[in-house]
Amino acid sequence: MTTATAQSHPNIAFIKYWGDREPLLHLPASGSISMNLDGLYSRTQVTFDPTLAADQLTLDGKKMSGAPLVRVSKLLERVRQMAGLRQFAAVTSNNNFPMGAGIASSASAFAALSLAAATAAGITLNEQELSRLARTGSGSACRSVPAGFVEWQAGDGDASSYAFSIAPPDYWDLVDCIAIVSQVHKPTGSSEGHALADSSPLQAARLEGATRRLELCRKAILERDFAGLTDVVELDCNLMHAVMMTSAPPLLYWQPATLAVMHAVVDWRQDGLPVCYTIDAGPNVHVLCSSQHRAQVTARLAQIPGVERLLTARPGGAARLLESPISTP
Ligand code: PMV
Repeated sequence: MTTATAQSHPNIAFIKYWGDREPLLHLPASGSISMNLDGLYSRTQVTFDPTLAADQLTLDGKKMSGAPLVRVSKLLERVRQMAGLRQFAAVTSNNNFPMGAGIASSASAFAALSLAAATAAGITLNEQELSRLARTGSGSACRSVPAGFVEWQAGDGDASSYAFSIAPPDYWDLVDCIAIVSQVHKPTGSSEGHALADSSPLQAARLEGATRRLELCRKAILERDFAGLTDVVELDCNLMHAVMMTSAPPLLYWQPATLAVMHAVVDWRQDGLPVCYTIDAGPNVHVLCSSQHRAQVTARLAQIPGVERLLTARPGGAARLLESPISTP
């Protein structure tokens, strides 16, 4: 019996991944850029056990079956093939943040699973290999493998589609203030959403400008240019949501409170507070600012009707192994 435990952070995309060139391996239609979210994490323990007759998954204390287990099993199968191993595994995973509401729990979950599974199987993968493995579980998971501010290069096949760090976590003291307006599980998950992207007449236009937006975002991060970051992050978010809203069937993730926060952010900025928003595949709004404005931004967000809860996160580190196993009740 061999066991390993790993931890990784979710990430917030500044330049979004939406749509696949190749869905099975999650080869994206364009590159993307994100920031890992410190303080939020998935912790995952994998134990390969010769006595098991099938893979098992316990998520936040609940035994899982069906689609979530199948998805985890597929990744374990890849690891078994790499390692030449035939044993099934017991997987225990816990998140310290709400799942399915636009904070990419699948990103941290599959990054942590990849590292724990590879280690428990006795194989050592470098960061690129680990990022590629995590990508096959959930595209954005490849960005939760390296540290800090991270770019996922689309690549032209499995070997070249992985993420790497553009800048370490302490490079820029940004804070993501996450306004939770709903903790309900999203109706259409991102896996189905990616498959709908090409049905929008706007996806082609979005992809056409992707290289330019990646350049602008990379530059804004490297120059710590908040105004530059604001322009490209909000544009890229609005483009992705325009594609979502115009796909067939349309995906409308925003709630009234989502829009209230977006308007407030734009108003505050006009009044001189450097702040910008971005939204993933859910109703919650990620409000970015520098750490000196964190208290002011969170105090203002808390006043907006419909904001149920606030989380804040600084730039987070890489996926890493943990010494102590997860204790089971
Ligand atoms: O990795 P997935 O399949 O959960 O897709 C992530 C999609 C977005 O969160 C909406 C955008 C992104 O780049 O993280």
